[in-house]
Amino acid sequence: MPATPEGPTPAGGQGAGDGQRSGGSQPNRPADALVGEGVERGPVTAADNGGRAPVARIPEPPGREELPPAKGDSDLRGATPDDMEPPPDALLVVRGLKKYFPIHKGFFNRHVGDVKAVDGVSFSLRRGETLGVVGESGCGKSTMGRSILRLIEPSAGSAHFEGRDIVTMDKAELRRMRRRVQIIFQDPFSSLNPRMTIAETIREVLGIHGIAKGQKANDRIAELLRVVGLRPEHSVRYPHEFSGGQRQRIGIARALAVEPDLIVCDEPVSALDVSVQAQVINLLQDLQRELGLTYVFIAHDLSVVEHISDRVAVMYLGRIVELADAKEMYRNPLMPYTRALLSAVPIPDPRIKRERVVLQGDVPSPAKPPPGCPFHPRCPHPLKDADCAKIVPPLADKGGGHFAACIKVPLGAGFEGGLPVLQ
Ligand SMILES: Nc1ncnc2c1ncn2[C@@H]1O[C@H](COP(=O)(O)OP(=O)(O)O)[C@@H](O)[C@H]1O
Ligand code: SF4
Ligand SMILES: [Mg+2]
Repeated sequence: MPATPEGPTPAGGQGAGDGQRSGGSQPNRPADALVGEGVERGPVTAADNGGRAPVARIPEPPGREELPPAKGDSDLRGATPDDMEPPPDALLVVRGLKKYFPIHKGFFNRHVGDVKAVDGVSFSLRRGETLGVVGESGCGKSTMGRSILRLIEPSAGSAHFEGRDIVTMDKAELRRMRRRVQIIFQDPFSSLNPRMTIAETIREVLGIHGIAKGQKANDRIAELLRVVGLRPEHSVRYPHEFSGGQRQRIGIARALAVEPDLIVCDEPVSALDVSVQAQVINLLQDLQRELGLTYVFIAHDLSVVEHISDRVAVMYLGRIVELADAKEMYRNPLMPYTRALLSAVPIPDPRIKRERVVLQGDVPSPAKPPPGCPFHPRCPHPLKDADCAKIVPPLADKGGGHFAACIKVPLGAGFEGGLPVLQ
């Protein structure tokens, strides 16, 4: 029986779940999300490596048939995003993405551990789709967004953009890709040069990518400002002369200058007043319709992503723990964690009351994640048991493309036609 650093894997016993994961069509899929860190970094032999010198790598995780059988009412069934073929119109396909920040200590600067900021994230994004990504602060949302764009180097995994893996692109290809994929930050002020006017800022981007110069650039700047709801005379002003909402519009104009396909929006409205938030979100939605943009929209609040998202991914300690169609997620949240996040979202109708689920304790450190289900120390689920501290729940399709990483959510709990049941 394999043992993992997250604890020994349980053995024996069958329960309400059949104890085995279903659909063994791809037995050798990358299943590290299922067994946590049950793999050691090991050297690759010269034979493995086409005769070249050995390099360090994360070895292949065990196949599905090696997964521990579940006990009692635990249910490990359901295909994971790694099992599934990406849709034919997928613009971005992320697989097993990890970003570990090494921790060094002592006089000799020894490597004593890692902050597992992103720990095996997989999803596909269709062209024109918006994936909302939510989770408490520190759960790895920004690191995931930046790793996909390779603004920071991922530790493992892949991110295929139109079939080409961004993670392995050389510098020239990466530069070309940067025209297609942009990022908008929470605080546009810190990413705008205070000594450059708005026209100079956008002209610089147009020049770097060889898009336009001279009068053509001026025309393009005026057009971009119009598109984001600013006036042409704004172009001669400096960033400090604008309000927060206007600065975010400038950030959007700068991102649009290169005519991207995909924009990672990293908490673009979190610093804005609620009324201004709605204006910026409406602008992003209008632009998406007009320009066919695809978004990864990061927020720490489920209420912000509700209207803009086609699908929503909930992150916890570097992993996606629930992934579903947006409507399904809000009507039928399966994860206890998502239910707790949703219970904090105010309902505009005062006649409807929602019971508040208050989570105990803080988010554990990603340098020392709990064994088994990373949520188990805080989980209020009535069926939580010893399995939860041993098995890393797979992000499994519980029905209708509703993925949840909880072994106490039975297969079939996802909504597939008809009205979903919200308990
Ligand atoms: N450069 C870094 N070095 C070490 N740890 C980092 C670094 N950047 C982020 N982290 C850690 O990674 C975790 C995830 O951070 P982040 O991606 O910013 O979360 P979020 O955007 O969800 O708030 C946090 O624990 C954070 O402290
Ligand atoms: S979310 Fe709760 S019930 Fe589900 S696997 Fe984790 S600890 Fe167990
Ligand atoms: Mg962040």
